[in-house]
Amino acid sequence: MRSVKRLSQAGLLALVWLSTSLHAGLQPPQAAVASAHPLATQAGENILQAGGNAFDAAVAVAAMLAVAEPSGSGLGGGGFFLLHSAEDGRKHFLDARETAPAAIRAAMYLDEEGRPQRELLRRGPLAAGIPGLPAGLVQLAQEFGSMPLKQLLEPAIRVAQEGFEIDAKLARTMAYREADLASYAHSAAVFLDEQGEALAAGTTLKQPDLARTLQKLATFGRAGFYSGSVADEMLRSVRNAGGVWTAEDLRNYAVKMRRPLVLGFGDWQIVTAPPPSSGGLVLGEIFQMLDLMGFTTVEDMGLRRHMLIEAMRRAYFDRARYMGDADYVPVPSRRLLAREHAQQWLESYSPRHATPSAELSPEPIASVGMGMNTTHFSILDGQGNRVSATLSINFGLGAAFVAGRSGVLLNNEMDDFVIAPGVPNGYGLVGGEANLVEPGKRMLSSMTPTFLEGAERVAILGTPGGSRIITMVLLGLLDLMEGRSAAEVVAAPRFHHQYLPDVVQLEQGGFDDEAKELLQLRGHPIKELSRQYGNMQVVVWDQDKAKVDAAADPRGVGRASSFVVRPSIEQQALELIP
Ligand code: DON
Repeated sequence: MRSVKRLSQAGLLALVWLSTSLHAGLQPPQAAVASAHPLATQAGENILQAGGNAFDAAVAVAAMLAVAEPSGSGLGGGGFFLLHSAEDGRKHFLDARETAPAAIRAAMYLDEEGRPQRELLRRGPLAAGIPGLPAGLVQLAQEFGSMPLKQLLEPAIRVAQEGFEIDAKLARTMAYREADLASYAHSAAVFLDEQGEALAAGTTLKQPDLARTLQKLATFGRAGFYSGSVADEMLRSVRNAGGVWTAEDLRNYAVKMRRPLVLGFGDWQIVTAPPPSSGGLVLGEIFQMLDLMGFTTVEDMGLRRHMLIEAMRRAYFDRARYMGDADYVPVPSRRLLAREHAQQWLESYSPRHATPSAELSPEPIASVGMGMNTTHFSILDGQGNRVSATLSINFGLGAAFVAGRSGVLLNNEMDDFVIAPGVPNGYGLVGGEANLVEPGKRMLSSMTPTFLEGAERVAILGTPGGSRIITMVLLGLLDLMEGRSAAEVVAAPRFHHQYLPDVVQLEQGGFDDEAKELLQLRGHPIKELSRQYGNMQVVVWDQDKAKVDAAADPRGVGRASSFVVRPSIEQQALELIP
């Protein structure tokens, strides 16, 4: 077993860029893929068995999810890929988040009295940012992959062409968005039957137009999507339906390579998402507060949950106030992560009772959040390369708008912007100036693809779930630090606080009366949700046990697989050479 340098004094948090990292050089006994769809997991496994690396597999998995889980992500959306390269131990954060079109103005989403017109942020082309995933896949394959893009996209193209069986989860999402899908001819042609009803579970969904667009991407790289016939068709259909995209918007779209945020908690290192995700900063603030509270020494479950909720409340306050696209607005990352900032927050903390959110600020009140879509996958290859990717088109089936014969279902990610300070979005999140919609800007995200690294354990995790993503990742990290298995982590019951609305959201069926009473005793208003949420995908490599373990969230229809990568004939031959 390798000894690992102690990263920090207990709890010391650092915003640092580590060029090399723990575990460089070690090889896992197995590879693993966990994703939200069995076809995507299979595509990733096949690429790894064919000699591809984790980055190749990530391209194949993401492309397959774009076809087989159109409710969660797709070519019309975007996302974040957190990467660990085993060769040099370096981490990278590939930001393929959507951007606001140049002609967009916040006023376009308001009526004459300045009231938000929610519909415009939820469906149709004004809801859609400029897609980032196609450029992200091309860059991932070129810079990190080892196989041609054509080979990586081939399985997705085949399934788009030949079709796949619709599962119950996708059928439910299509039924939920039926009226929206029916408003747009090309959406109806793909997702509704001749009677205008959502396709039922068990029927075959074929997407020949999408197959052609994927083929163009495979042949011409980013030019196959951001210019030429696919771009022309998307622009024609977007503009006909009242959207404002231009050819320049598409041509100018750029992936950003960023430094991941690296946090420390005890002996653990957490590598996670920087802005324009709020995930890493919110996690960092929470860990800093937990450390000051002495969280890890507390055994009383009621007090532990209280501590977590109070830290969540305060960090989400800062999310609303300070966080946005750091390329456009100054995000005070260092100050937010500083120990002094956590100390200030804890001046209003009491272990005995809840702090009402209204006492933190006189900001306007938000409505209740929702959301179950987006997608996450985690990959570990036989060399120890890792990918943690969260991809999105925002709501289930995004803007419900298929852009003409391109077959591309557009996102409704513009709803992640603030259109006016204090006006909540679809997840009940409020925000301020930092996340106001601006041309070219990336909308603030909660997507938090993450690695956990300790002396003997490495984990890859993430989940969809809108504003609840960050607290799910937090609970997952704490469980992983306590040695729980991948299956235990994905199945654990979840709770959430996001500053506003000022309630503790409890997952349906997850908490007994005693747990609820303990929260109520401290004055926490509780909202028991009518359903479960999240779709977490976890891979864990326990180096002391030489074991790789993977699990897909039982709330979804995903599949996790860990397997020994068979050496190729060439590798076997090389090994025989003395
Ligand atoms: O980037 C974000 O934070 C959101 N667009 C994620 C949406 C999501 O997770 C939907 N699923 N519930």
